[in-house]
Amino acid sequence: MTKRKGIILAGGSGTRLYPVTMGISKQLLPIYDKPMIYYPLSVLMLTGIREVAVITTPDDQSQFKRLLGDGSQWGMSLTFIEQPKPEGLAQAYILAEDFLDGAPSAMVLGDNIFFGHGLTEILANADAITNGGVVFGYQVSDPERYGVVGFDENGQVTEIIEKPDVPASNYAVTGLYFLDSSASEKAKRVKPSPRGELEITTLLEMYLNEGALKVNKMRRGYAWLDTGTHGSLLDAGNFVRTLEKRQGLQVGSPDEIAYQQGWMSRSDIEERSKVFNKNDYGKNLDRLIKERK
Ligand code: DAU
Repeated sequence: MTKRKGIILAGGSGTRLYPVTMGISKQLLPIYDKPMIYYPLSVLMLTGIREVAVITTPDDQSQFKRLLGDGSQWGMSLTFIEQPKPEGLAQAYILAEDFLDGAPSAMVLGDNIFFGHGLTEILANADAITNGGVVFGYQVSDPERYGVVGFDENGQVTEIIEKPDVPASNYAVTGLYFLDSSASEKAKRVKPSPRGELEITTLLEMYLNEGALKVNKMRRGYAWLDTGTHGSLLDAGNFVRTLEKRQGLQVGSPDEIAYQQGWMSRSDIEERSKVFNKNDYGKNLDRLIKERK
């Protein structure tokens, strides 16, 4: 079986955050002390994925390249793919078909932030399933804003509906999708919805109809943060700040994860820490170096 590859979907028009996103991509905005995309990237890295495609609008691609480079600083390989128009989440699998080249994938939305003790374990469990798909259900107070999971009386998943007027449950599907190698072929069969998008929920329902979709519930000990409004963006930043200040540790540091994964050597991380020597991101790398002595 080919190794799973990663996709970060970081396109879209960001109109809900206007005027903030009129001059910059949403996924490059800061969540406290890091660009937003560092957090979903960290999730893929924690899964052990080193080959990642970053899908952006044509206009924004150069800025993402400037920020992330080719990934070699982290012992990774990053590929950049353009999405000319935001025609839906499922389109990512069509755009990334050549990149995936028959591999299973983990796609994360560039504006989704996950945090929680044991995250690495649930990622490893999802990664281990190479046939079918695995997604995560998360209890929210406002399910109508998301893809929503419907369950029958035995707790079996019956449907996944995008932004329903009357949600069948309080479980939203998070923006993290582990799909097998048939995703691109299936995505090509997705018909545009009334709002003109290739919906991820339609793709997931194809898996569901084949009896090949697992919806893992993420328990309350995890944070899945919203970045969809100005207020929730600020809240997410404050959440990260609170944790980092209290613990003196970093949330969502690709450099730390690459080092812990053994993708960067000690001298690599020493060099990198100099780039950030004026702030806590760098201090955290120094701490890691000392701890490994
Ligand atoms: O965050 C989880 C939710 O994400 C899921 O529960 C929904 O099922 C899923 O459709 C999606 O809902 P959103 O309302 O958040 O979708 P939105 O159109 O805002 O797109 C999510 C992100 O993906 C956003 O940062 C922009 C980016 N995007 C979106 C589209 C439609 C793209 O890069 N390309 C696109 O074509």
